[in-house]
Amino acid sequence: MALDRNSAWWRGAAIYQVYVRSFADSDGDGTGDLAGVRSRLPYLAELGIDAIWFNPWYPSPMDDGGYDVADYRDIEPMFGSLAEAEKLIEEAHNLGIRIIIDIVPNHCSDVHPWFTAALAAGPGSPERQRFWFRDGRGEHGELPPTNWQSRFGGSAWTRVTEPDGTPGQWFLHLYSSRQPDLNWTNPQVHTEFADILRFWFNRGVDGFRIDVADGLVKEDGLPDVDDPNGRLPYSDLDGVHEIYREWRKIADSYPDKRVFVGEMWLPDPLRFAMYLRPDELHSAFNFDFLSCPWDAKRLREVVDATLAAHAPVNAPATWVLSNHDVTRHVTRYGREDTSFSFADRQHQAPTDRELGTKRARAAALLTLALPGGVYIYQGEELGLSEVEDLADEVREDPVFRRTKGADIGRDGCRVPVPWSGTASPYGFNTTGAAPWLPQPLDWASSTVEAQTDDPASMLELYRAALKLRHIEAGLGDGPMAWLDGLPSGVLAFSRADRFACVVNLSGSAVPLPPHVEVLLTSGPLDDTDLPSDTAVWLRT
Ligand code: NOJ
Repeated sequence: MALDRNSAWWRGAAIYQVYVRSFADSDGDGTGDLAGVRSRLPYLAELGIDAIWFNPWYPSPMDDGGYDVADYRDIEPMFGSLAEAEKLIEEAHNLGIRIIIDIVPNHCSDVHPWFTAALAAGPGSPERQRFWFRDGRGEHGELPPTNWQSRFGGSAWTRVTEPDGTPGQWFLHLYSSRQPDLNWTNPQVHTEFADILRFWFNRGVDGFRIDVADGLVKEDGLPDVDDPNGRLPYSDLDGVHEIYREWRKIADSYPDKRVFVGEMWLPDPLRFAMYLRPDELHSAFNFDFLSCPWDAKRLREVVDATLAAHAPVNAPATWVLSNHDVTRHVTRYGREDTSFSFADRQHQAPTDRELGTKRARAAALLTLALPGGVYIYQGEELGLSEVEDLADEVREDPVFRRTKGADIGRDGCRVPVPWSGTASPYGFNTTGAAPWLPQPLDWASSTVEAQTDDPASMLELYRAALKLRHIEAGLGDGPMAWLDGLPSGVLAFSRADRFACVVNLSGSAVPLPPHVEVLLTSGPLDDTDLPSDTAVWLRT
């Protein structure tokens, strides 16, 4: 399948998220790697995805799963080499799959050469000006410079020991203390990242997912925040848009289409859309949809608000149900409260897995029929649920550490993928080595092998839906219209070419609207009725 290099491919793409560490382990060290991904490219091609987004694959101490980057121009040795990444990009392209990689411009690792140089150079040095070093408050500078809290818990400031051995300045880190924030008022930071973007574009990557896209610019003078808990608002500052205008020029200087996807948790749809103006980012994750409870009225409001926010800037909407930071949606949708929020992740709240799975199947058809691009997090197509019973000793997420276990963190959605067999490592590797996070005992029926050719499986539902998404001209980018006149609690909308999607969240079976053919259902129909928590694609 040849790639059409100039189409606006991202506008309706199905993009599969690969968390390399947990995808496929070719060398049997318990950690996924790029050779593992290469070996599974045929699986992804057959699944029917258009692009892969890779979580950070750079050399990293893995304090935050690779979001602590030590070198932006190389590959983490556990994952492989630059040559391996180049082969992977080429092989994916040959299969018609594009490659998006993560870029982490808000912070780097504390072992990044810039940061070690800043520590060595001491206060007032140009090396420190690439970061946010400040003297502490209090008589001896023993108190943090501001009341800001890290988004992973604890203070956002850590004090360093100066080269002469005395307690010294503090540096800012919005995340863990091993992720110093870069100072985007420094021109060297701009030049460096422009060069990094070109480095990877020149190696054929088709785009970047931008980590903490709204966070790069800090408020002048770093004032204390009003929040009693020192929580920084997820609010962006104007200067950040200048950065993306610079970046957009770089992307547009390539003859074929390269794209930027922003990661922002912005509550205000108008501020959100500012990032998607024609000379900035191409798209951004829609976390309102992810956070929304399984409720027809609320979902319809989110869809409407999303489309309304994107329309004026002519950007495609995106639809996301899960990723490496949030509780897997099979688990969320089986709880009493089906919403998601970082403030209260409802860890270990009781969940009905059967119900969650039924709803996740319906949500898949809803998501894949909505206008715009869609993201699929590895394992979502297998219907994996959150692994909630990991032992404290195996947890690696800095959220767990920094909150002292008050928030158990994100490891539960990062457990290695089960491919085959009846016991761990379920084909994650062939040596039998223990995966870096233990897999549940009951995953035998969740493997790719077990689900393949089982028409009732989640995997075959995703395969069928992704296939239809390619064939149906009206799916992906393009208009949609709500179909009214159905019972309350039912979401129904049409797309071009006599296509309709109907999702029943009402709690009881409802008659299907007029149609000539049932194209796909997320579960069995009740004669001609659509049972609750079931979705259907119709030819109308
Ligand atoms: C968002 C990423 O998705 C998350 O995994 C990471 O911990 C933070 N940004 C900090 O880089």
